Amino acid sequence: MNHFNQVANDWDTPEKTQMMKELAKKTQKRLKLSQKIDIMDFGTGTGLFGLEFHPYLHTLTGIDTSQEMLNVFNKKTEAFSHIQSHQINLEDQSLASKFDLIISSMAFHHLQDPKKVLMKLKENLKQNGRIAIVDLDQEDGSFHPDNKAMGVKHFGFSKQELQYWAKQAKLNLDYQIINTLHKNETEYHQFLAIFY
Ligand SMILES: C[S@@+](CC[C@H](N)C(=O)[O-])C[C@H]1O[C@@H](n2cnc3c(N)ncnc32)[C@H](O)[C@@H]1O
Repeated sequence: MNHFNQVANDWDTPEKTQMMKELAKKTQKRLKLSQKIDIMDFGTGTGLFGLEFHPYLHTLTGIDTSQEMLNVFNKKTEAFSHIQSHQINLEDQSLASKFDLIISSMAFHHLQDPKKVLMKLKENLKQNGRIAIVDLDQEDGSFHPDNKAMGVKHFGFSKQELQYWAKQAKLNLDYQIINTLHKNETEYHQFLAIFY
């Protein structure tokens, strides 16, 4: 069974909720968001990151491969007609809709071919649209307790790799480290990469 389907109902802890709130705030500041726009949250999970964008939502489309994570997302959002979810895997399926902004947090390291997905997401952007990805900086594989069981395909991404993706996708890149996590007596960094 998909790891995220198993953990969905216990996913939202106070620690994760607080961390995603802070990461979302930093992302919004860097993006200089001011008006309501159409946003896709790729790998939205239970919506801890994406739903923090509520002041800026004309619409929010949360997409994810895990129906159980989306069930939690749907429970939180059922009263809001401008927020919807789709269970879809963009590694091998396509979505026709276009967005002003595509956001994603801690999902790209679960992808088989993240560069290919970035290029596909570019096709879902309106003119002057942007893609903002928060994920782990390159690490030694010790961040997750069990990489295989947790569906981890990449031990984070280096700045050089993100620059290569940008070049291949013919997009500009605004990159910064926005957070540092301490566990296993190790420091792990999280980056914000804005492709535009
Ligand atoms: C670590 S969770 C992060 C969830 C949420 N973005 C957050 O920050 O709280 C990773 C999410 O990516 C989703 N995911 C994994 N592979 C995916 C894929 N190919 N397409 C869309 N979502 C995917 C998982 O189901 C999971 O919900």
